[in-house]
Amino acid sequence: MADPKAFLDVLKGRKSIRSFQARPVDSEVIKKILELATYAPTNCNQQAWNFIVVTDNETKERLVKEAASNTNLRRAPAIIVVTYDGWNYKEAIQGGALAVGHILLAAENFGLGALPMNSYGADTQIKKVLQVPASETICCFVLLGYPDGRAQAMQPVSRRPVEEVVHWGVFGTRKRPPFTYGPDDWTLETLRMHQRYYCRKTTLGKEMDIMSRDERALVRNTLAAVKTSILDLCSYDGSYVSEFPNVPVQMVDLLSETSLYTKAAAEQQVPQKIRQHIFSVYDEQASTLASQPVQTITMIYKLERLPAPLRSEMFSKAYATLEQGGEFIIFSRKSNPFLNLFFFIVKILFGNDVRKTGMYAFFGPYQPIRVSHTLTLLRRAGFTSIDWTGYFPVPPFYEQVYQMFLQYRKSEGSSYLHRETRLTVVSRLLSALFSFQGFMRVGRAGSVVVIRCQK
Ligand SMILES: Cc1cc2nc3c(=O)[nH]c(=O)nc-3n(C[C@H](O)[C@H](O)[C@H](O)COP(=O)(O)O)c2cc1C
Repeated sequence: MADPKAFLDVLKGRKSIRSFQARPVDSEVIKKILELATYAPTNCNQQAWNFIVVTDNETKERLVKEAASNTNLRRAPAIIVVTYDGWNYKEAIQGGALAVGHILLAAENFGLGALPMNSYGADTQIKKVLQVPASETICCFVLLGYPDGRAQAMQPVSRRPVEEVVHWGVFGTRKRPPFTYGPDDWTLETLRMHQRYYCRKTTLGKEMDIMSRDERALVRNTLAAVKTSILDLCSYDGSYVSEFPNVPVQMVDLLSETSLYTKAAAEQQVPQKIRQHIFSVYDEQASTLASQPVQTITMIYKLERLPAPLRSEMFSKAYATLEQGGEFIIFSRKSNPFLNLFFFIVKILFGNDVRKTGMYAFFGPYQPIRVSHTLTLLRRAGFTSIDWTGYFPVPPFYEQVYQMFLQYRKSEGSSYLHRETRLTVVSRLLSALFSFQGFMRVGRAGSVVVIRCQK
């Protein structure tokens, strides 16, 4: 057991750990941590909590398979399932949460890493696998283990300044992002407010905006011929860094926190190329995107997320930054009956709040573009030679949407981000459909557009 740390070091040093060494955690250490958890306060001192410790792989596998638990479970040496007598839901969640807080700090104190996790799967199945009585409420899972090198190196995520969250006396007014799907409800300021904290929620480099194999391949194939350096505007999750040709890339993000995120994703995906890449932040005051003219600028599945005034501003700066003869290449999902139907259903089911659908929440608003409007803005920015092509009448990310639907159903609403691909008749049919559809150029019928503008 590591030497106890100073209290403030424990508080400030804790961070979520999502990758662990294979080394097991001694049961005496787990016991000590859970003993410290019992020092948390509870309503009327009922202490109606229970902690189930799972260390064997067979049970972890059953949780993943039968309860659609997060597959991270497999990588954690120990899992603590926190339950609380569910006679009163609010009280159970409050008591359980305080215990979880103690567990996380106690783990940090003993040199361990932990992750509180709510994407733990279907309550009813977990209760079956772990033989938990129906009367208990499952509050949270905590993954526990020794952080591996990658987890240790991860920077802690930024915290909101205390002045921003403290209200003396009354709540009063507080500026917050609109959280709607429509980009035009947002501004550069509210986009930054949202991204500063929200996008740093999960594993680095996770695919958010480019989830499908075909949409990704379209980027790879289109950029394959590029031999000059690239400036990529709004890189955000950085999940497609590995698709760039072997040229230096300058990745421009809206703020430094997102840029760090992109950089960490690139370090993970293309460590051998990281030295040739530059990570910078969009400067709204400057008239160009970079100090030197560039030959190629890309914007990859990000235009959907930008308010019209910011699009215009970026297009003008892209034009000003390009060398004569240079090219601006935009990949974007565009309005199409299938996509429109999808977003219509999403809004009916979850409401007009991007936070309620994890896949869109990370970087703000989301709306497939209108090509004609985009072409008008590009012409206004100075581009005269513009060429565009539509692809994929049926959006290829429907394969992922279907997997998400299966995950959502199986996990009883606990998560929908695809963890494991489930093979069913429908998934095979979709796969066959997308193979058939391929990369046919379909003009206006497409759900994705590639716009190429030359200066
Ligand atoms: C109740 C709760 C549930 C969480 N669930 C998940 C989860 O399912 N998956 C995940 O990767 N992180 C999860 N987290 C971790 C948060 O993303 C993380 O605490 C947050 O980004 C702040 O980072 P930090 O813990 O490093 O300070 C959860 C955190 C809390 C408090």
